[in-house]
Amino acid sequence: MGAAVWPLIDQMNASADVLALASKEIDISGVERGTQLTVKWQGKPVFIRHRTEEEIAFARETPLEELRDQTAENKNKPGADASDENRALDDAGEWLVMIGVCTHLGCIPLGDGAGDFHGWFCPCHGSHYDSAGRIRKGPAPRNLDIPKTAFISDTVIKVG
Ligand code: FES
Repeated sequence: MGAAVWPLIDQMNASADVLALASKEIDISGVERGTQLTVKWQGKPVFIRHRTEEEIAFARETPLEELRDQTAENKNKPGADASDENRALDDAGEWLVMIGVCTHLGCIPLGDGAGDFHGWFCPCHGSHYDSAGRIRKGPAPRNLDIPKTAFISDTVIKVG
């Protein structure tokens, strides 16, 4: 009799897991400017960076032709160019939300202004990403991916 109950419970667990993976709501009210919150979503780290004015200005002043990957790699803006405005979550550019997986071979880059371009640095083989998460130097071929993300209130975002 006990055995007959298990398939149902397994199925319920699977449904709950799938729901949990589909999207994630994250409270960002405690993320100070100049810091990054890292959360796990679909088994991957997601970087939520509250950028400084300097980081925003550096990214916005970069000419597009200097970029290796000319596309935004942003699920919210398919086909858009790699301008900082097309990468940031909000118009002012304070928030940048990205999958924290190096596009070379999948290591997790270091943040907090790391690397030569005030953004992220992947120590595995030396890829430098700028303050908009765009690849600038090293073997990685693409900008860090931006997942589907939206504000659902002033202080909560939803990823996925
Ligand atoms: S995995 Fe990041 S540089 Fe190779």
